[in-house]
Formats: sequence, C-alpha cells, structure tokens
Amino acid sequence: MKILIAGSSGLLGSECKLVLGKDHEIIAPTKNEMDIISWDGVVETFQKTNPDIAINCAAFTDIEACETETFLVQKINIEGPRNLAQCSARYQCRFIHISSDFVFDGQKLVPQPYFEDDPPNPLSAYAVSKMESEKAVRHNAPFYSIIRIGWLYGINGRCFVKSIIKKAIEKSGDIYVADDQFGSPTWARRLAYQIKDLINTDARGIYHATAEGYCSRFAYAKYIIKKLGLTAVISPTSMKSLNKKATRPLNCLLENRLLKNQGICIMRNWKDDLDTFLEKYGDTIIREAEAAIEV
Ligand SMILES: NC(=O)c1ccc[n+]([C@@H]2O[C@H](COP(=O)([O-])OP(=O)(O)OC[C@H]3O[C@@H](n4cnc5c(N)ncnc54)[C@H](OP(=O)(O)O)[C@@H]3O)[C@@H](O)[C@H]2O)c1
Repeated sequence: MKILIAGSSGLLGSECKLVLGKDHEIIAPTKNEMDIISWDGVVETFQKTNPDIAINCAAFTDIEACETETFLVQKINIEGPRNLAQCSARYQCRFIHISSDFVFDGQKLVPQPYFEDDPPNPLSAYAVSKMESEKAVRHNAPFYSIIRIGWLYGINGRCFVKSIIKKAIEKSGDIYVADDQFGSPTWARRLAYQIKDLINTDARGIYHATAEGYCSRFAYAKYIIKKLGLTAVISPTSMKSLNKKATRPLNCLLENRLLKNQGICIMRNWKDDLDTFLEKYGDTIIREAEAAIEV
C-alpha cells in the first residue's frame, strides 16, 4: 500500500516511516513540501501521490508554547488535521490521526484508566486542540482511526528520557520530577508496530495505545537513571510546584480496551520496552548529552 505520513521527521513519524517502510511504499513529505495548514498544499500532495492511507503524526507539540501561540495551535492542531481528513474523504483514502491522553482531565483515581469512550475534558490549550482535532477528523473522514497515545519516547526528537539523561549529565544539582503524575511510558517504535498491525485490519474509530503498566513521572526518571548507572539525584516534587503554564492531567493512564477486544494489542509492559530502548540507545543519548556540554 501507499502510505502518506505527515510529520515524518518527528518522534513518532520517524518511527512510522521506518517500521511501515518495511512493507509499504512511504510518502514522507517534509513540512516545506506539505504544510498541513495549507489546504492547497495538502490537496496537491494527495492529487500527486494518491495514497491508500494517510497518517497524521504532525502537530504543534510544545505544550507550554501552545498556551500563548493561539493562532499556530488552531492552524496546526485543528485545521491541519481537518485538511488531511477532508482530503482523505475526497481521495478515498483511509485516515489515521494521532491524538493524546491529554484530552482527559486526569481526575480519575490512579490506577483507574481512561477508556476510549470516556468523556474528554481537556485542561490546556494543547489538550483542547487535540480534542478539537478528533472532532475535525470524525466529522470529515469517512474511514478514520484516531489513536490516543501518551508519554512517548524514542530516539528521534524531544522526549522525557532524553531530557532526564541530559540533566543528569549536566550535573547541575538535584533534578526535581513530579511524583503525583502517572502514566505509561511508551516506546514510539512499539507504537509504530502497533499502527502497522492496526492498518492490517479494518479498525475504525477511537483507539487507546500506550504501554501496559504505569508509574509516576518520578519513578520513571529514577528508573532511567538507575538503569544507565548515572549518579544524578532525582527528587520528588508535585506537578503544581513545577509552575508550568499549561495544566497537565495527573492521571494519564489509558486502557487499550479496543485493541485488546479486537485481539490486535501488541503493547508491552513499559519496563520491558524501556529496558530494550536504553540498552540500544542509552549510550548514544549519553554521548550526545556530553557533546552538547562540550560545545
Ligand atoms: N510525544 C508525546 O509524548 C505525545 C503524547 C501524546 C500525544 N502525542 C501526539 O503524537 C503525535 C506525534 O507527536 P511527536 O511527539 O512525534 O511530535 P514531534 O516530535 O513534535 O513531531 C511533530 C512533527 O510535526 C511536524 N509539523 C509541525 N508542524 C507542521 C506543519 N504545519 N505541517 C507539516 N508538518 C508539521 C514537525 O515537522 P518539523 O520537525 O519540520 O517541524 C514534526 O515532524 C502528535 O499528534 C502529538 O500531539 C505525542
């Protein structure tokens, strides 16, 4: 099949390109080649390439900046997905859109997870935009899958694993991490394989896809540091005391209920995948962090 990936230079998009590229023909335009906020640009790409499936991994993902960059959030996170959804309808293409655990308010008591049909109640500008992106997709694409994900890490792009390692290497004192926010650290590569399996089925609608099991962000940070044998001191704090502009949900747990019901869930325990990731890429990330200090 011919698969168009928007946002293929990002954390998830790069893994989708790699994994799906093994079995499919991939069209991976850069932002310059297809800016999803340009209706004409998106139409032109669909017209030229005629994809069977379009996957939207593109988004404005700087959660703090989303609080002030209102125009860009609206354009990239809502109008962009709408353009892609409408083109998917026009060119009879299946559409897969990536959404977020942040559509929920996180008020459920841990370890109660959020299910696909729980009502969204977003807390930040980014979260509102992701909820609106889902509506834009539902209303415009006849054959869509929306995949809600969270706590993603990977070798390309920004992620929590890299930023904790960087802080540890910088050795600039204690690293404060929230111990009252909970989620399921998910490897972007695993998710890309899950998307690969999902597109082999007729799966339609909203899906949750995060790693199995959960931890606090503090426990997550400590696990990374210990696993890599680093010496930084990770100290617990509350999310509130980190003084973020954007409010984050404290409970980010998603249950992969539909994937499991349909017998297509390949998500693993978060520790298993994180172990593999750190064994594979830990040294590279450490070397990159050390090189950044030397510059
Ligand atoms: N990372 C997480 O923990 C997490 C959690 C929940 C949900 N998500 C969702 O998962 C999806 C993928 O996230 P990610 O972490 O992989 O994002 P990312 O690393 O920030 O990558 C975003 C991608 O979007 C591209 N992009 C931005 N604006 C664009 C535009 N106007 N037109 C075309 N492409 C554009 C970027 O291109 P350039 O690099 O050229 O700017 C980049 O390739 C997003 O929908 C995000 O909301 C992520």
